[in-house]
Amino acid sequence: MRRILVTSALPYANGHIHIGHLVEYIQTDIWVRFQKLRGNRCIYLCADDTHGTAIMIRANQEKRAETELIAEMAEAHQQDFAGFSIRFDHYGSTNSEANRSTCEQIWLALRKADMVVEREIEQLYDTEKGIFLADRMVRGNCPHCKSPDQPGDNCSNCGATYSPKELINAISTISGTTPESRCASHLFVQVEKLHDFLEEWTQSGTLPKESANYLKNYFLNKELKDWDISRPAPYFGFEIPDSPGNYWYVWFDAPIGYIAATLEWCELTGEKTDAWWRGDNAEIHHFIGKDIQYFHTLFWPAMLKVAGYSLPERIHIHGFLTVGGQKMAKSKGTFIRAATYLRHLNPEALRYYYASRLSSKIEDIDLNLEDFTTKVNSDLVGKVINLASRSAKFVADTGLSASYPDDGGLFAAGASEGEAIAAAYEAGDYSLAMRRILELADRANPYVEQNAPWELRKDPSKAAELQDVCSVALNLFRQLVIYLAPVLPDIAEKAGELFGEPLDSWEQAQQPLTGTKISKFKHMMQRIDPKNVQAMTEESKEEAALDTTSQDPQSRNYEDSAAPLKEEPLEEEINFEDFMKADLRIARVVEAKEVPESRKLLQLTLSLGGDERRNVFAGIKAAYDPVDLIGRLVVLAANLAPRKMKFGVSEGMVIASGGGGKEVFLLSPDEGALPGQRLH
Ligand code: 2FM
Ligand code: ZN
Repeated sequence: MRRILVTSALPYANGHIHIGHLVEYIQTDIWVRFQKLRGNRCIYLCADDTHGTAIMIRANQEKRAETELIAEMAEAHQQDFAGFSIRFDHYGSTNSEANRSTCEQIWLALRKADMVVEREIEQLYDTEKGIFLADRMVRGNCPHCKSPDQPGDNCSNCGATYSPKELINAISTISGTTPESRCASHLFVQVEKLHDFLEEWTQSGTLPKESANYLKNYFLNKELKDWDISRPAPYFGFEIPDSPGNYWYVWFDAPIGYIAATLEWCELTGEKTDAWWRGDNAEIHHFIGKDIQYFHTLFWPAMLKVAGYSLPERIHIHGFLTVGGQKMAKSKGTFIRAATYLRHLNPEALRYYYASRLSSKIEDIDLNLEDFTTKVNSDLVGKVINLASRSAKFVADTGLSASYPDDGGLFAAGASEGEAIAAAYEAGDYSLAMRRILELADRANPYVEQNAPWELRKDPSKAAELQDVCSVALNLFRQLVIYLAPVLPDIAEKAGELFGEPLDSWEQAQQPLTGTKISKFKHMMQRIDPKNVQAMTEESKEEAALDTTSQDPQSRNYEDSAAPLKEEPLEEEINFEDFMKADLRIARVVEAKEVPESRKLLQLTLSLGGDERRNVFAGIKAAYDPVDLIGRLVVLAANLAPRKMKFGVSEGMVIASGGGGKEVFLLSPDEGALPGQRLH
C-alpha cells in the first residue's frame, strides 16, 4: 500500500470557482479516488489562498475586513467543490496559525542557510491609495512599440518585457492617478545558491518531459535570479518576524499552505505531519496549471530542500481550458461559474467530459458544448447507464442468476483490461482510460441488443434465459462502473445501491456477482438537454454583465512576473584579435521559405554581393513571415563552420537578439550599407 499526499493549487480567494479551475480539481479528484479505489492510502489536501494585494484592494473597495471577505469566499469555494464531488480530506486557509508557524520555520531555515539578502528597490507608489503598486496594477504605453494600455510587466502587442517604471504615461489601475517612484527595502531569496540541486532535481523525472526540457534552458550557463520575497506595508499577509513592516509575498506563503493543511488535518486525525512530509514514508503529488510552474518547480523545491522537507514525487501539470476553441469570455457566456453550471447541468457530465479530454501531456483542453452534449448522452446514458436501465427491472424479483452464465467471454475480457485501464489512470492519461472503458461498453451493448431481454420477458417459458441475460448485462454494467468510479462517484454510489454493496475497490471488477438481490432501479443520469446548456450560457452572460470585478480566466494571484532569471551575464573578456576572428557581414535576404517539418526554422538564401550566396537556417519562424524578409538586409556571421542540420547545411548564422519564439529581433544596418560589407 502506497501512502500518497495529493494537492491541487490553492484557489485564490478573490474570485469564484469557474469551469477553468475545475479542470484541475476534477483531474486531481479523479486521481485521488482512483488511488483510494486501488487500496492505496491517499489524502487530498487543499486550502484557500488568501493573501496579497488583490484581496487587500478588494476588501478596501467593499469597505470590509479582509478576513470577512476570505471567510465568505472559502465557504463559496467549498460549496462549489462539493457540488462537483471534489472531496478533500481537509480544506484549510493560508491565513491560519498553522501556516504562519510553518512560514516562520521555513523562513528561519532560509536565513540559516544564508540565502536571504536585503536590497533597496525602486517601485511605483500610488500616493492616493498609499500603497506600492505591483506590476499588474500599472498600465501605460509600451516603452518599445508604444502600444497603449499595456500592463506593467510585458506588452501584449510586441511581447517585450520591462519594468513598470519604463512604461510611458503610467497610470495606477486602482486610483487612476499617476504613480510616483519610491524606494523600499525588499528581502530576496538567493535561489542561485541551490543551482546545482535544482538543475538536477528538475531533470530527475518528477516533472513532465516538456516541462523538464523547457527548464533546462534556465540553468544553462545562467544564474537563477534572486526571488523578491517581501512586500512593504500595507499588505494583507504575514508580517516577517525579523523584518518589521515587511510581509511575505503571497507566493511565499501559498505553497506552504500545503504543509499547513497537512498540519491541521493531522491535528484532527491524530496523524503525524512528519510521516507525510519528512523521510521516505509518503509520496507527495502536486497538481498545478502550466502558468504556475516557476513557483512549483524552482522556488518551492528550494524552500522544501532548505527546510528539510520531502520533495514532491511528481508534479502533474495541465494546460488551460478553452471553450469552443477560444479563451473563456464573459461576453460570450463561456466564463461559466461552477455554481452557475450546477444550476443547469449534472456535475458528473463535466467530470466525464474533462476526463475524456485529459492526457498526461501539458496540453490545453477544449470544452466544445455541442460535443459535450453528444458525448455525454451517447457514451454515458446511451452506452453505460442503458445497460442497467434495460435489464435491472426484469430481475427485480428474481435477483441475479446463481452462477454466472456464459457471456461469450465478455466479462473475462473486461477483467483482463483492468490493469491497462489502471495504468492509464495512474499516468494521468484519462482520455486513454475512457477510450478503453468505452470499448468494453461497445462490446457489451450488442450482447443486450441481440438477446433483447424486453422480448424474452414476453415469453414465460424463457424466464431462466431472461434472468441469465440480465445477469450478464448487469455484471458488465457493474464492471464498467467500477472502472468509471473515479470519474463518476455519484453513479458509482447509485450502482452500489442497485447491487446492495458499495463499489469501492478496483478488484471488484475481477469477479461477477451472482445470486444477489437487485434493488429497484433508480434513474442515474438524465440526458443533457441542449436547452439547459443554452440557459447556462445565457445566465453566465447576465452574471458577467453585473460583475464589475475583473477576473482573469485563471484568476491567479501573481502580482509580478515571475521570471527567475538574471539578465544574461556577460561572457568573459576577450581581446581585439579574438573579436576580429568573427567575420560579420551585411547580407541581403534573396529568398526565404518555411521549413515545413520544423516548428522553428526558416530557410534563407542570403546574398553577400555579386554571386556569393549562402544557405542559412534561422530559428525565427515564430517571429517572422518569410515574405516580409525578402529584400531586407541582415547581419551574418559569415565565417562560422558550416553546420549539418536535419534539413540541410547551414552556412553561417543570422544575428538576432531576444529569447527565442516570438521574441526574436533581427539586426539591420542603417541605410546605405551594402551586402558583403564587413562589420568592424
Ligand atoms: O495561481 C493561483 O491561483 C494560486 N492561488 C495558486 C497557489 S498554489 C500554491 F502554491 F499554493
Ligand atoms: Zn510593445
